Amino acid sequence: MCGIIGYGGFREAGPVLLQGLLLLEYRGYDSFGIAVDGGDRLHAIKRVGRISDLPNDKPLFPSLASDGEKNWHVGIGHTRWATHGPPSDKNAHPHYDCTGKIAIVHNGIIENYHPLKEQLIRDGHSFSSDTDSEVIAHLIEEAYFEKKEEGPIPKRRLAEAVEIVTGKIFGSYAILVTAVGVDEIVAVRSSGPLVLGIGDSEFIFASDMLPIIEYTNRVVYPDDGDIVCVTNSGYHIHRKGDGKRALDSRSEAERKEEYPITVLSLTLQQVKKGGYPHYMLKEIYEEPEVLYQAVHSLTPDTIPQILLDEDYITVVACGTSYHAGMIFAHLLEAMSEKIVKLEIGSEFKYAHSPVRGVLLTISQSGETADTVAAVRRGGCFNRETVAITNVLGSSITREADHTLLMHAGPEISVAATKSFIAQLGVLLQMVNIMSGEICGEELSHVHKAIVPILSLSYDAAVDICAHSEHMFYVGRGVFYPVVMEGALKLKEISYIHAEAYAAGELKHGPFALLSPETPVVAVCLPGPSYAVMTGNLKEIKARGAPLIVLGDPHAPELIDIADCIIPIKHEGMMTDIITTSVALQLLAYYVAVKLGRDIDKPRNLAKSVTVE
Ligand code: M6R
Repeated sequence: MCGIIGYGGFREAGPVLLQGLLLLEYRGYDSFGIAVDGGDRLHAIKRVGRISDLPNDKPLFPSLASDGEKNWHVGIGHTRWATHGPPSDKNAHPHYDCTGKIAIVHNGIIENYHPLKEQLIRDGHSFSSDTDSEVIAHLIEEAYFEKKEEGPIPKRRLAEAVEIVTGKIFGSYAILVTAVGVDEIVAVRSSGPLVLGIGDSEFIFASDMLPIIEYTNRVVYPDDGDIVCVTNSGYHIHRKGDGKRALDSRSEAERKEEYPITVLSLTLQQVKKGGYPHYMLKEIYEEPEVLYQAVHSLTPDTIPQILLDEDYITVVACGTSYHAGMIFAHLLEAMSEKIVKLEIGSEFKYAHSPVRGVLLTISQSGETADTVAAVRRGGCFNRETVAITNVLGSSITREADHTLLMHAGPEISVAATKSFIAQLGVLLQMVNIMSGEICGEELSHVHKAIVPILSLSYDAAVDICAHSEHMFYVGRGVFYPVVMEGALKLKEISYIHAEAYAAGELKHGPFALLSPETPVVAVCLPGPSYAVMTGNLKEIKARGAPLIVLGDPHAPELIDIADCIIPIKHEGMMTDIITTSVALQLLAYYVAVKLGRDIDKPRNLAKSVTVE
């Protein structure tokens, strides 16, 4: 969570930073801030709220306007998802040392900040925020400055001071540092995402490539512990373990060999809304293409051999990705001899048993802390690890033995939609390959079945849901995880409390809550459980709960009991999983629109959960 950005180049830094932070806001958006080096002091904005609330009719830093002569500009910025200390102006980054000459932005958590802070206070430092991050600025002050009567004087290079500080802090982090008058940004990461974009006489650091592609498509991914500096003479990477080797002693050729520049194929158009009112709707409309790409990216030749050889698969994921894992586990066990053990990322570390078989992790961002930790745990048990992710170069791709990309393109909306469909594309294709391609033909056409779902009318169902405070979602078999994902989507963006149940479980307690005020959304399509499912729906209806059914609009047994039917044509197990999932995403979307919610940035959330 949190997004960080740094700019060094010939453009005015403030506007570049704010523009970039807008693209990083999906990572956290309760407050933001930037600091720009003005030569004699740092100029800063730190605010609770959204960047779009900032008036844009005035120059950001009027006193820098006379600075037009300057041809190298430096600044850092941050958009926050609060962990230590509530959202407020004082807790917004950047944070400063006592001299006010050093500014830092930090994404992640400094786990040992408390004893460090106590020691710094004993040493005479005073703190301005409740954050863990502020200790970094004070520690750098200690390492960087010599305190003289006439004022603090740098005793070493800023990069060296940052390197000293990395020996004192632990946790997960990506940090950017600048100081008055050095015309330099120093960056370091440890399990936190960080990319350096290399432009023509300009450099841009960011938590991901979205703010970078406007300026360059050439990027470098620093490794954990590397100290990266940009100055007006270029960029320098000091590799962890290089000991006292001078920070810039490496030749250009040596650096390129160790840090290959990746040329991104991402375009600016891909990260813009393209006429849609929300990213979420745009991303849902991209699903037919995304699904096609995902399914066809995996063939018997590209699947890691270990997945074919091992009989036991441990799957670890969080949130929406976990639901995709549930569907995979259900189908693979039904269609092959393999055994699948599914684990929630945040609970996996408490498992007592050793990790068995091949470890398969699923993560859109590739940055979810618990899922990345799961890959490491798999490594500790000498397990081969496979990561399914959407982000090339993300932390998980560096930790896992094998990476399978889901090819969904950038997903900006906090609610996962097209990435879920892409995950299903990869996972269902895996099921086909691992089980001998029982329904390979069905899957190769399934993307076409999404198209009619996009233009269905959801109005009647929306009217029922939008007036409720509590709802239930029910399904059986493989549709149980489908409704779990549908309920997650609804609560996440509409703030309506929605609970998903396996349909048969409802009468084991939750029936007590059924009333005309608690609508139930049910997936009821032909299959082995159809008769018992329609029986369950009758029981629900008998308790007075309004019933929204995803099913055949001509089936008399559904017409009899449903208050509203969202028409879904039964075409086959894999197709039905996809079409019902898309319909539930759209239902959640239109309910949230009706309620006037902040759809792409729902309250209290962030897209990448990079803290445990
Ligand atoms: O990036 P990941 O797939 O690892 O993210 C996992 C969850 O945080 C994520 O799926 C979350 O549940 C979604 N925002 C839900 O829409």
